[in-house]
Amino acid sequence: MSDISFDGRVAIVTGAGGGLGRTYALELASRGAAVVVNDLGGSVAGEGGDHTAAQKVVDEIKAKGGDAVPNFDSVSTPEGGASIVKTAVDSFGKVDVVINNAGFLRDKSFLKLTWDDLDAVLDVHLKAAFYVSQPAFAVMKENGYGRFIFTASNATFGNFGQTNYSAAKMGLVGLSNTIAVEGARAGILSNVIMPVAKTRMTEELLGDFANYLAPELVTPMVTYLASEACTTTHGAYSAAGGRYARVFWGLAQGWYAGQGAHPTAEDVQQHLAEIEEQAGYIVPTSTTDEIVALSERFTK
Ligand SMILES: NC(=O)c1ccc[n+]([C@@H]2O[C@H](COP(=O)([O-])OP(=O)(O)OC[C@H]3O[C@@H](n4cnc5c(N)ncnc54)[C@H](O)[C@@H]3O)[C@@H](O)[C@H]2O)c1
Repeated sequence: MSDISFDGRVAIVTGAGGGLGRTYALELASRGAAVVVNDLGGSVAGEGGDHTAAQKVVDEIKAKGGDAVPNFDSVSTPEGGASIVKTAVDSFGKVDVVINNAGFLRDKSFLKLTWDDLDAVLDVHLKAAFYVSQPAFAVMKENGYGRFIFTASNATFGNFGQTNYSAAKMGLVGLSNTIAVEGARAGILSNVIMPVAKTRMTEELLGDFANYLAPELVTPMVTYLASEACTTTHGAYSAAGGRYARVFWGLAQGWYAGQGAHPTAEDVQQHLAEIEEQAGYIVPTSTTDEIVALSERFTK
């Protein structure tokens, strides 16, 4: 197995001024990538902002002999996204890798959630990923090469107080899956990372357990997904404390009422065990996979 190199590659890492993003930027730069270190600065709730976080990471990369430029735009606007990609193209001529990582929390139980809390979180996680990735996709398509990583969360499994965040993160799974479909012919791979790590975002929530969860233990999975060596697309991976695992959205065999049948709610009730049965599931890689599975079932 050869070493994974990023020589000649250009990477954008959003929210790379601290936490997980900083580790990705440092690792990719140490392996030869030229890196755009994007970070607006600001608090864990997305308030305020200063340039020191991104600049410090750039200084750290340069001190180790790597190549990086800072970018201080917010990912939360179309102009910010375009400007981040422009920074990569103006500084390094192209973009090969986008790690959509920036974000913050506005946790509230569902009935206390304000529309400001909803908009802010959808903007910084979900819409931001569109704003940064669409202009990057255009450059990658032209070059016939690209790697996208979208940052979801185990909040997609459901987490009290995180309706806004879990919805935004699940939206990123759909975005990544469709970019994987649209990018396939242009050499563009797209995957989702679901990290669990001790950062300022989580250290209070996780308590002592956080000590198992150094952010550097997430980095190898992200580095692999960002690399030329990566062979997977349309995937989602949990990375936590040195355990790396596939997460998937599967489709079970289910119960088929039969051709021409007129099933009722009572029939559904009666067959619920078959509907719920998980054995024999498939993991569709596009809507076509479900249509193929259905047509096989209907014509058997
Ligand atoms: N730490 C975990 O266990 C965990 C779990 C699941 C998901 N995540 C996700 O991982 C990503 C990184 O989180 P982290 O734990 O490293 O937190 P963090 O707060 O250390 O890092 C997030 C970074 O994003 C930056 N940022 C915020 N808003 C921005 C904006 N509008 N434009 C540009 N940059 C902005 C912040 O300044 C910060 O440096 C986030 O998307 C988070 O939701 C983290």
